[in-house]
Amino acid sequence: MSPMPVSSSHSVALNTGLQMPLLGLGTYKLCGPADVYQAVDAALAAGYRSFDSAAVYRNEADLGKALRELLPKHGLTREDVFITSKLGPKDQGMRAMEGALHSLSQLDLEYIDLYLIHWPGTQGLPVADDCNPGNRAQSWASLEELHGQGKLRAIGVSNYTPAHMSALMQSCKVPPAVLQVEFHPRLCQPELRNLCKEFGVCFQAYSSLGKGELLTDPVILEVAKNCERTPAQVLLRWAVQQGVPVLPKSSNPERILQNAEVFDFTLSDPDMDRLSALDCGHRFCWDPSERFLILTPLSSRLTNSSLILRSCRPYFLAAHREGGADKDRPLNGKPSVGVPTSSSPLACSSTSLEMVEAMDSEFSLTRPANERIKDKWNRQA
Ligand code: A2P
Repeated sequence: MSPMPVSSSHSVALNTGLQMPLLGLGTYKLCGPADVYQAVDAALAAGYRSFDSAAVYRNEADLGKALRELLPKHGLTREDVFITSKLGPKDQGMRAMEGALHSLSQLDLEYIDLYLIHWPGTQGLPVADDCNPGNRAQSWASLEELHGQGKLRAIGVSNYTPAHMSALMQSCKVPPAVLQVEFHPRLCQPELRNLCKEFGVCFQAYSSLGKGELLTDPVILEVAKNCERTPAQVLLRWAVQQGVPVLPKSSNPERILQNAEVFDFTLSDPDMDRLSALDCGHRFCWDPSERFLILTPLSSRLTNSSLILRSCRPYFLAAHREGGADKDRPLNGKPSVGVPTSSSPLACSSTSLEMVEAMDSEFSLTRPANERIKDKWNRQA
């Protein structure tokens, strides 16, 4: 199949007046200058003009450098591309200004096209912690200030629930331009989509391929076979045909190209309906409404640890009640992150915060795994 350049008409207008491409390269899997360079090169050749990074992906500097080197090679300038990055949960609140300026300096850009609050919570705090609403408001005020200075051309949020969105809309001076959330046929997010429509916020998808797991869904395979496209193209087409911008992640040049070829075919209404009927509220990524933000399973870099639990204060408190952890250990300071072992979650060992931060880029625990851990915990606590 020949390359299908992504034309400038394949974009959506944000409430700031900016045009945002419907297709962007998700970069959370890209790590290290060589991988980033190769993926950005392939993406620019395939017609991508949008790149989605984040402080926690730890690739902002590599992305900025790759673009500086590659834009001239592809006959492009800074103005031809749309760069997104995100404020990390550790910078939520009073460190937000510093965090956003750090993203700018890492990318080495004068402005970022779109900057998002990555996560409604603050690193180290449980979801229900009373400090979270104030931290969110403070972060938003910092983003508004930088938007006013022209350093962040558009600002928005990611992983916000309907309640977070409604609260933000009531208190903001500058309304969010974008809400970026997990979206695919098994998670259609009707409530959030309706809210975005009502508020004039662009609803943007991440994990359109269900982290690759949707590519073997029988319905998607059948639709793909009937229209002689790949399952990935069907999933991406299903979103863009509804006007929802997508950010497929790939580090593979052939798949990067394949994922760009979604503007030269149309899914029939019955096929669109069949795909939308798969909605069952299933998440492949994290759930912002859950009590625990859980990061990365089974890392070979962490000896004797099955999981790292972020925001693990309740685990610590329960463990302490059982005499299993040290209550004086600060929970969001060093060296205080509990790592329940596979044999018993009460036998908390500890690891350093730096180690956990080193894992920040791997948001990879699925909802079923999360449920298993909570069940196990509840049984044992
Ligand atoms: P890879 O980087 O090896 O291509 P999501 O965007 O839903 O998080 O999905 C990303 C996952 O899907 C990655 O593991 C990526 O692996 C894989 N992937 C991306 N594009 C394709 C494709 N066209 N075909 C098969 N797998 C893909």
